[in-house]
Amino acid sequence: MKKMILTLVMFFVTTILTACQFGNAGGDKVITVYTERHYDTDQLLYDRFTEITGIKVNLIRDGADQLITRMDNEGEDSPADVLIIADAGRLHRAKEMNLLQPVTSDLLDEHVPNKYKDVDDYWYGLTMRARVFVYHPDRVDVSELSTYEDLTDSKWAGRIITRTSTNIYNQSLMAAMIEILGEQQARTWASGLVQNFARDPQGNDRDQAKDVVAGVADLAIMNTYYIGRMLNSSDPYEVEVGETVRIFFPNQETTGTHINVSGAGVATHSKNVDEAIQLIEFLTSEEAQRSYADANYEYPINPAIEPHDLLKSWGSFIAQDIPLSKLGEHSVQATIIMNEEGWK
Ligand SMILES: [Fe+2]
Repeated sequence: MKKMILTLVMFFVTTILTACQFGNAGGDKVITVYTERHYDTDQLLYDRFTEITGIKVNLIRDGADQLITRMDNEGEDSPADVLIIADAGRLHRAKEMNLLQPVTSDLLDEHVPNKYKDVDDYWYGLTMRARVFVYHPDRVDVSELSTYEDLTDSKWAGRIITRTSTNIYNQSLMAAMIEILGEQQARTWASGLVQNFARDPQGNDRDQAKDVVAGVADLAIMNTYYIGRMLNSSDPYEVEVGETVRIFFPNQETTGTHINVSGAGVATHSKNVDEAIQLIEFLTSEEAQRSYADANYEYPINPAIEPHDLLKSWGSFIAQDIPLSKLGEHSVQATIIMNEEGWK
């Protein structure tokens, strides 16, 4: 009994301390978040934020481009306080379109390393993700695997699948290739990759893994966390797919594996700037970062939090070392090249 009371007291003390850290002056405040993140587990984080601060969160979910266009059209009347997008390229675009405002915060400086935020503080990373090779171990020997560039080799003819060129994850991968290889070589890369596709691009990232297992292709380019989600899915087939495939981090001896972030910024016309900053401070805090890592299998950006054990079991990796703003600077050219080289 004593132990139970002590546990309860500890719980309340922790809750109050957390509440103090993030301020509790919310009252009936409501902030509006435009978010592209499409993971149900995010809702638990917003609920927790409301519990701690009293600030309610009104969520508007849509695609990145739709949200950016909507904010732009709404102008000064936009109800958006925070914009959350799962792609550094689009975050950069939102900044360039004057949809975000710079934010300074000691907590954010503590939570988010410089490489995962905008150089002028317009947006801060929330999670990091790696775009890797997922392959079938019966049909691919790990010794065959090396780099993104190698996927244009004729030995891969008819063996590769990925999503369409309308997908922002692939657009940012392409933008990174432009930054690293230069435009002409990146174009040659895209053309060679398309030559080796097993089919016209279709489906989402999970579908790529499923189709590798189904024998449509031997290797897929996709984000790591979908394998984590499938391994922990309530659908037994997804678990089987997750257990069958293997993950490979490309370019470890050259330019590193392509990474991207999902991130958040405060809207230029927000009428609740303090509360908006509080939300981003919370989402980058140790508690929220633990949740992103454990519920969605993304890499935490807050260095105080370790990745999930599953991610650690895949091993550490060297990431591409290019400023994330480059994904935005090259995004239009990336889409043009993909279209011209037949990446559907
Ligand atoms: Fe995703």
